[in-house]
Amino acid sequence: MRIGVLCSGGDAPGMNPCLRSIVRTAIACGDEVIGIKHGYQGILDEEFFISSSGELAMGVRSVSGLSKQGGTILHSSRCKHFQTEDGVKEAAAILRKYKFDALIPIGGNGTLAGAIDLGKHWEGQIVGLPGTIDNDLLGTDLTIGFATAVDTAVEAVDKLRDTAGSHDLMFFVEVMGRHCGDIALFTAIASGAEIACIPEAEEPPEVIVKKLKEIKDLGKTSVIAIVAEGDERGGALAVQKLLKEAGNPFDSRAVVLGHVLRGGSPVAADRVLASELGNFAVGAVIRGETGKMAGRVKGELTLTPFEECVLGHRKVNPKKLRLLNIVAS
Ligand code: F6P
Repeated sequence: MRIGVLCSGGDAPGMNPCLRSIVRTAIACGDEVIGIKHGYQGILDEEFFISSSGELAMGVRSVSGLSKQGGTILHSSRCKHFQTEDGVKEAAAILRKYKFDALIPIGGNGTLAGAIDLGKHWEGQIVGLPGTIDNDLLGTDLTIGFATAVDTAVEAVDKLRDTAGSHDLMFFVEVMGRHCGDIALFTAIASGAEIACIPEAEEPPEVIVKKLKEIKDLGKTSVIAIVAEGDERGGALAVQKLLKEAGNPFDSRAVVLGHVLRGGSPVAADRVLASELGNFAVGAVIRGETGKMAGRVKGELTLTPFEECVLGHRKVNPKKLRLLNIVAS
């Protein structure tokens, strides 16, 4: 069969090893993979990955060295036209023209929403993969890219802690994650942050300032607060201002880590997850599955209907929140 693969939305470390696994699994099963560039936009533009030997079908060697490579060699995009019914119909016609039997889109919420729309107008099979740093999708315990993003954030916070210590400062460090506080929560636990401002457990400024005064009275001279970008008060700068107005006893600076978290070589956990899920998605397509996302839930590889995966977003684990409150005290 002819399987198309694309990466859509924000890129995530692990998309490349995932592609490597898809291509090599499909070839081992006697199937063919065509890489579509720039996500759904690439279907509309008929923009395909062409190997160095000029082949349309991706060969075993076209994915060499991808285990450790960040970003995505297929490139990604957020395609506005694909969000319209006309755009989806055009894409379906192009997939028919090139005789695709199946599509494996790798991405987050928007990518799966696009897959649902495509499934209404295209008869081919679609099995999606969770590729996003945000860890916000239902239907998997971890998304591809999350572990690396947390590692990157922790490395940055460790460095900020040094300068915070030297200058008796507080740092507000903003991390990505859209509406989900998981990157912030995991980063806070792993980096030993004193404060975490996450959408699922927002505390009023006066409560945080009270904590900061207690911390200062205990003799602490440096403080790290991790702020999730989904914090409804508006991110690190806004929280810094609010706390200053509420009497923050520490002199402070704000740092936005932003897209830095999307880059870098994937950590081993992401490489393994990406390889497992890529392999599993190809097997699912061969078995005739469609309209589902492959994920890993409690150690088992699973398939969950797209509609269930995008029904809201994953909430942080309350046990991890309690853990943070204990270790940060
Ligand atoms: O979904 C991944 C993500 O990096 C989010 O964490 C963030 O909110 C968003 O994408 C940023 O998107 P863009 O790169 O389009 O600004």
